[in-house]
Amino acid sequence: MIDSYGRVIDYLRISVIDRCNLRCVYCMPEEGLEMTSHEEVLTYGEIVRICKIMAGTGLKKIKLTGGEPLVRKDLPKLAGRLKAIPGIEKVTLTTNGILLGQLMEELHDAGIDSINISLDTLDRELYAKITRRDQLDAVQKGIETALKYPDISLKINCVPMGLPGQDLSEIASLAKDHRIHVRFIEMMPIGYGKNYRFVGEDEILGQLEAEFGRSEIYQGKLGNGPCHYYSFEGFQGKIGFISAISHKFCSECNRVRLTSQGFLKTCLQYNTGNDLKLPMRTGASDEELKKLITRTINEKPVGHRFLEDEIRNENNLNMSQIGG
Ligand code: GTP
Ligand code: 5AD
Ligand code: SF4
Repeated sequence: MIDSYGRVIDYLRISVIDRCNLRCVYCMPEEGLEMTSHEEVLTYGEIVRICKIMAGTGLKKIKLTGGEPLVRKDLPKLAGRLKAIPGIEKVTLTTNGILLGQLMEELHDAGIDSINISLDTLDRELYAKITRRDQLDAVQKGIETALKYPDISLKINCVPMGLPGQDLSEIASLAKDHRIHVRFIEMMPIGYGKNYRFVGEDEILGQLEAEFGRSEIYQGKLGNGPCHYYSFEGFQGKIGFISAISHKFCSECNRVRLTSQGFLKTCLQYNTGNDLKLPMRTGASDEELKKLITRTINEKPVGHRFLEDEIRNENNLNMSQIGG
């Protein structure tokens, strides 16, 4: 799968559900969003079918995301079915970590390759303020359980918001003390993210170097996404940055997204893409779906334009619906 700008597309991010057991302030309103009814959500059979067709044209890596993917029943079973598709090399998960304590063993048995856990602070009160739920203990328990499975790579995703008490050095220390990579994600102006302060990579790196000493650019590759990493002396894990605003990475984009309702979305920012659900439910053949998918990928935009005001509101979906 090569798009019209010559980018090789081999990574599909699947939002399996738009529901979530948290209400992060930059993602959802307090009362939650109107949830998609069960009939509108792709079945596991439909997801597997799409992935099989795409694997036949070069898909190699699959990310399961949400909402919160682990609130969907039997998610480990889906992971196992995807992992069994010939050509699929990696199946990874991005979760808020609350249910990891309960599901780690099943996820491990399903063959999950790596898990990213969203965690913006280690301060219990601030965590409850950002996520509107007092669940830090459950997340920490989840991380502890995940660390017992050495063949699964672990990363923390932290979105710095410049809030008093959001201690980024403390979060970074998780990479010092454990085999965990810690990544700082620049807030993107998507959905409720537009209302919050953006903290850039250079500011954070400066702060961490003042605390932990000089860092070195890490040249190796960790994972399938747009993150770049630094090594700090004495750290077991790396420190990474996903800097969609200050270090735009669209020219290296390797991915498309599938929403829980079956829309194949070609860029995080725009609504460009095509619905696959209706054709699937009205009898389209694999060959017809393959043509539709290839055409959709061919229409992938060149990149985001988050900083251009006139179109930054074009995306009317929220992060929980897109899956990040
Ligand atoms: P790894 O395989 O571990 O590298 O995973 P990943 O970084 O691809 O996935 P994850 O779900 O952890 O995503 C982390 C952040 O990267 C999220 O905030 C995503 O929104 C952001 N991200 C992923 N892909 C893109 C992209 O194509 N464009 C932009 N702007 N952000 C992206
Ligand atoms: N900007 C950047 N990252 C975001 N996430 C959610 N909303 C935003 C936003 N507006 C992050 C979550 C999670 C990842 C999948 O996406 O914190 O770590
Ligand atoms: Fe849930 Fe992730 Fe949105 Fe937080 S950012 S409410 S964890 S989907």
